Amino acid sequence: MKHTDIYRIIGNEALLGQEVTVCGWVRTFRDSANVAFLELADGTSFARLQVVIDKGAISFDAECTRNGAAVCVTGGIVRAYRGEGVELNAKAILLLGKCPPEYPIQKKRTTVEFLRGIPHLRLRTNIFTAVFRVRSVAAQAIHRYFHENRYYYVNTPIITASDCEGAGEMFRVTTQPWNSTAKTEEEYYKNDFFGRRAGLSVSGQLEGEVAAMAFSKIYTFGPSFRAENSNTTKHLAEFWHVEPEVAFAELPDIIKIAEDMIKYVIRAVMAECPDEMTFFDSFVEKGLKDKLTHVVESEFAVCDYSEAISLLQKADVKFEYPVDWGCDLQTEHERYLTETAFKRPVFVTNYPKAIKSFYMKQNPDGKTVAATDLLVPGIGEIIGCSEREADYEKLLSAMKERNMDIGAYKQYLDLRIFGSVPHSGFGLGFDRFVMYVTGMENIRDVTLFPRSVNNIM
Ligand code: 4AD
Ligand code: MG
Repeated sequence: MKHTDIYRIIGNEALLGQEVTVCGWVRTFRDSANVAFLELADGTSFARLQVVIDKGAISFDAECTRNGAAVCVTGGIVRAYRGEGVELNAKAILLLGKCPPEYPIQKKRTTVEFLRGIPHLRLRTNIFTAVFRVRSVAAQAIHRYFHENRYYYVNTPIITASDCEGAGEMFRVTTQPWNSTAKTEEEYYKNDFFGRRAGLSVSGQLEGEVAAMAFSKIYTFGPSFRAENSNTTKHLAEFWHVEPEVAFAELPDIIKIAEDMIKYVIRAVMAECPDEMTFFDSFVEKGLKDKLTHVVESEFAVCDYSEAISLLQKADVKFEYPVDWGCDLQTEHERYLTETAFKRPVFVTNYPKAIKSFYMKQNPDGKTVAATDLLVPGIGEIIGCSEREADYEKLLSAMKERNMDIGAYKQYLDLRIFGSVPHSGFGLGFDRFVMYVTGMENIRDVTLFPRSVNNIM
């Protein structure tokens, strides 16, 4: 259909006097004796276009004025009667799709929880329009950051036979019938599609390392899957994962890269989505813009795990989970560190090896690994990062300690034989990052169709 996107019209005085056709959905309708006003949104801009209807001059189907109806309007661009910018003086209004009064998106204030129940319609509200525009702009900025810095974008497999994080959270991929009768697990998988156990990848890292050993700098940006039984505001069964992998980089190098990338993307979002950020600042998280400005202007903190433990032990707070050296940090601990102790994003480094993954570089102390998590206020961990163990024998012994199936990781181990180099990488949870920059408090509200335990709408 020949028409003009609304974003090209909003505020564009060069169009004054011209005739245009626009298509969109009715957001509001106001009526008076002689004139009526339609506010039209087509999703290409956060702002809506005001359509002015001279009721004496044109006739149109009354269905065109219903909230949610899809219409096509042709008219002349005129200077806005009130305020700045332009509006459209309607000459013809055509109904494209009517919308009955049961339309669940009503002008009266609704909650995000209610809207979660109608994922197919919630994107037509201001808040979700803003969230998903920011999400798109942030994704583009991530690609741009890596492209400008000469990282190759690689696509790692989604179906895999190796569990990268080793936490047993893989969804199984199978074509076996539900009532297949196998006497052993081995026999079951032998008859399966791949002839062995397969699942959905929890991380593209292991394959990303293979690519980094050829191109030096690569990244992946795709979905990861985790059958984590945690029904929290920051866990999904399917989330989007940004994973750079960098050769000739040690832990301090990759920490700099992570910080640089986060700041680059926040700057891009603030520059490209000013209206959306103002909206979030007013209605979602007061002070969001100041918070993010502070984040891009200040250096992130770096804190050793052992120091973090002593800060938590000295804290004047009653934690639900006890804090001892060796424990994994819970969200409450992470949030105390970033919100109260440091009041900015913080990299906690050198975790005990027993609570971290097999592939992380073992520190000389024999107790810790060269790993770091980036913690941010409001959420806790958004990045998991480490230098990788580049030494064949050390990697092999870490795998044996965990009773891993060594045969399944032969190629990964081989990388440590043929020209092994120090290398590091990280995984950014993209959905969590979108929560952070929008102030949204639930990961289900930054994801188009969130999947979590007992929920696949
Ligand atoms: O800390 P994780 O488990 O690290 C890895 O997977 C590494 N292989 C990454 C790497 O070094 N290439 O996951 C990385 C990030 C977390 O910090 C978190 O932000 C996000 O992925 N994440 C989740 N996001 C939403 N829902 C879940 N269930 C998530 N699990 C991890
Ligand atoms: Mg982690």
